[in-house]
Amino acid sequence: MVLVTHLPTIGLMPDDAKTAPTKRGELTLAEIAELLPGTGEIMASVGECWWKCAYAARGGNWQLAAYFVRRVRGLQRKLSVVRPKYSGDLAAFEEEHIDPALAACDAKDQRTFERAFAAATDKANELHVKWAKSYIHWTLPDEPPKDLELSSQP
Ligand code: HEM
Repeated sequence: MVLVTHLPTIGLMPDDAKTAPTKRGELTLAEIAELLPGTGEIMASVGECWWKCAYAARGGNWQLAAYFVRRVRGLQRKLSVVRPKYSGDLAAFEEEHIDPALAACDAKDQRTFERAFAAATDKANELHVKWAKSYIHWTLPDEPPKDLELSSQP
């Protein structure tokens, strides 16, 4: 394997020749890209955060609810980078659904939050249909998470 990482001309090399050093040897950029989390992995994390967000808001722990809305936003921004084909839908989803949910958390407004949460969930499931995953219909679990304090904080 040709060691190319320290050459100043790396930007001129074909993509499949570019490598980066790791503790156990060189990896090509293509190999590194393959190791990034895919849509399923990112969405599984989105689902976890979305569930906990709802119950944090219902418990009145608005800082925690806002934290989970921001986690969803951050995960979806990462998804936009690794899967650009979703970037338009994700940007619209952020503006039309994530921003209002976050605003409701900031205002500690239960009714507005519940409406924003339901509208966002409906839109997410519509997007699953659009992207040929109609069998993925997210629903809020009946049970609150047991690993977090959900009641309002002083
Ligand atoms: C709060 C909003 C959302 C929730 C709770 C949610 C939830 C989920 C869940 C639980 C999965 C299955 C993950 C797994 O494999 O375990 C999934 C998959 C998926 N979601 Fe979402 N989602 C949301 C928003 C979106 C948005 C905005 C898009 C926009 C494109 C999207 C596109 C997809 C796609 C394409 C898959 C299939 C994954 C694959 O191809 O492997 N989702 N979603």
